[in-house]
Amino acid sequence: MSEPLNIGVLASGNGSNLQAIVDRIEAGAIRAQVACVITNNSDAFALERAKRHGIPAFFLDHRLFASREEYDAALVEKLREHGVRLVVLAGFMRIITPILLNAFPLSIMNIHPALLPAFPGLHAQRQALQYGVKVSGCTVHFVDEGTDTGPIIIQAAVPVLDDDTEETLASRIRHEEHRIYPEAVRLFVENGLRVVGRRVIITDMVSTRS
Ligand code: GRF
Repeated sequence: MSEPLNIGVLASGNGSNLQAIVDRIEAGAIRAQVACVITNNSDAFALERAKRHGIPAFFLDHRLFASREEYDAALVEKLREHGVRLVVLAGFMRIITPILLNAFPLSIMNIHPALLPAFPGLHAQRQALQYGVKVSGCTVHFVDEGTDTGPIIIQAAVPVLDDDTEETLASRIRHEEHRIYPEAVRLFVENGLRVVGRRVIITDMVSTRS
C-alpha cells in the first residue's frame, strides 16, 4: 500500500470545509492526511481546528511580503516542506499567482458557493438572491489563472426559497459543500479524475456521489 497523499489546506476563516475533509479522512474514507494548514489571518478558526486534530498550522502574514508573488513563493516553500501533493483552498481570501499555480499544476482545488460559471467572485449568495435565480449551489473546481474559472470537478444544486436571506441560502449551500468537497478530494486521491481540455472526467467507479 502506498503512503497516504499529503494535502495542504489554505484557509482564511472558519474552516468548516477543512473540518469536513478532516472528518472524512479520520473516518477512513479518504486515504490522505492534511499535512499542513496555512492561513493569512491570525484569527482564523481554521487554525484552532487544525490544532485540535494535531495538524501543523501556520499563520503567514501577507502584509509582510512586498508582492503577491513573494507571498506565494513562501506558500510554495511551506507546502513543499510538508510534502504536499494536493492544495485545497477552503475559504482562502487571496488571489493566487502563477508562482503557486505552476508549482502545483492541476493540483489546486477551490470551492465556490454558486453554480459556476454563474456568480463568480465575492458574495456569490448575495449575487444569486439579487439575480432572482430559483436554484443555486456550489462548485468544486481546479484552480487556474482566472477567478473561479477552472475546470469543474463536482457541483451540487440547492433550491433558492422565497424567504431566503444570504445566511439561510449560505447555510443550505454549505451543507452541500461539506459533502462534495471531501468527495472531490477523495476522487483526486484515488486518481479518479482525468482532465480533458476544460472537462473533468470522473473515472472512479466507486464514486459515492448521489
Ligand atoms: C465557503 O462558503 C466556500 O464556498 C467559500 O468560502 C467559504 C469557506 O467557508 N470559498 P469555511 O471557512 O470552509 O467554513
